[in-house]
Amino acid sequence: MQPQHFDSSRDETSSDSLSHGPKVLAIANQKGGVGKTTTAVNLATALAACKKRVLIIDMDPQGNASTGLGVAPDRRALSIYHVLMDGTPMKDVIIDTAVPGMAVVASGVDLSGAELELVNSDRREYRLRDGLEALFGAYDYVLIDCPPALGLLTLNAFVASDAVLVPLQAEFYALEGLSHLLRTVERVKRGLNPKLEIQGIVLTMFDRRNNLCDMVAADVRKHLGDVVYETMIPRNVRVSEAPSHGKPVLLYDMNCAGSQSYIRLAGEILRREKTAGSPGSEVPHSSTISRPQTVSQAGAPTSGAVTAPKVTKTRPALPVGKELKEDPVAAAIAGSKRFGSALASGMGSVPTQSVPRR
Ligand SMILES: Nc1ncnc2c1ncn2[C@@H]1O[C@H](COP(=O)(O)OP(=O)(O)O)[C@@H](O)[C@H]1O
Ligand SMILES: [Mg+2]
Repeated sequence: MQPQHFDSSRDETSSDSLSHGPKVLAIANQKGGVGKTTTAVNLATALAACKKRVLIIDMDPQGNASTGLGVAPDRRALSIYHVLMDGTPMKDVIIDTAVPGMAVVASGVDLSGAELELVNSDRREYRLRDGLEALFGAYDYVLIDCPPALGLLTLNAFVASDAVLVPLQAEFYALEGLSHLLRTVERVKRGLNPKLEIQGIVLTMFDRRNNLCDMVAADVRKHLGDVVYETMIPRNVRVSEAPSHGKPVLLYDMNCAGSQSYIRLAGEILRREKTAGSPGSEVPHSSTISRPQTVSQAGAPTSGAVTAPKVTKTRPALPVGKELKEDPVAAAIAGSKRFGSALASGMGSVPTQSVPRR
């Protein structure tokens, strides 16, 4: 269902002042618990480790990105809510993080009311984009952590963004809802923000010991093709522990598999952008990828380079609706349903056709 506030007849796309500003990425999937916040926080940290200036915007009323970055509730008196609802300048709500070069705009409790409050507001889909315009030149990347819904907050993120990055959990129902998400992106592209693209789909919480994960990943790649990043984020306990320490996992445990995979993802994204020729997206050489330091360490760098990003192929971001094969999502959903039926009926392998009902 199309969001009720969606109004594709409005065309205010002539303002393109962000086109030479930061690369703005919405991290979105209307499902909860698929790794949006984890990806926003850790991809941002990995990009900062590649010497990019990065801003994270926490657009989820739950405020998990703010908490995971150690922003205590008493530091959230001014939040993204005030930018959206009162026109407070973005620069007044930006909070530094422990990662040099990375800042955050926190979410506040009020944000849960913003969905409703925005409905009758002027420029209700453009509030975030308006707020970001003043940051021209201050950041290389802005990563927006979206809430688990396709409402006005996510719509604001899509209108303000250059591209959408979709975390997809490698599990049985991974693809349910993806068609809806991609259709929403297409509608925004047609009506409100013609430059919007799908940046890529990243498989998260991948578990090599689980055959189903392998099968889901293979099927997603088969049907969605190059839009799926080669880098997969493994399920890793260190990733889930880090937020309770108020830190990105790259600060909590740089060497764990989760941290390394987010570094590879950042490398893959930067490399794709270089191929696509976007401004300011230098590909990091292994020696330029430094361990992120906490502010207290910033004056005294301690370590050398970490593992270089493994980049096996270079591909540009795909525009929505063009390269995607005909209804690949439906095909992939059918594929993952076959896995479920096969497992349920105790079959050792997955059939290529639907499992007949008995
Ligand atoms: N790669 C991972 N390995 C282990 N746990 C993870 C991983 N990614 C996310 N998690 C955990 O899964 C839960 C949901 O992730 P989160 O990023 O908050 O999802 P979302 O923002 O989509 O709701 C969190 O508890 C998080 O710590
Ligand atoms: Mg979240």
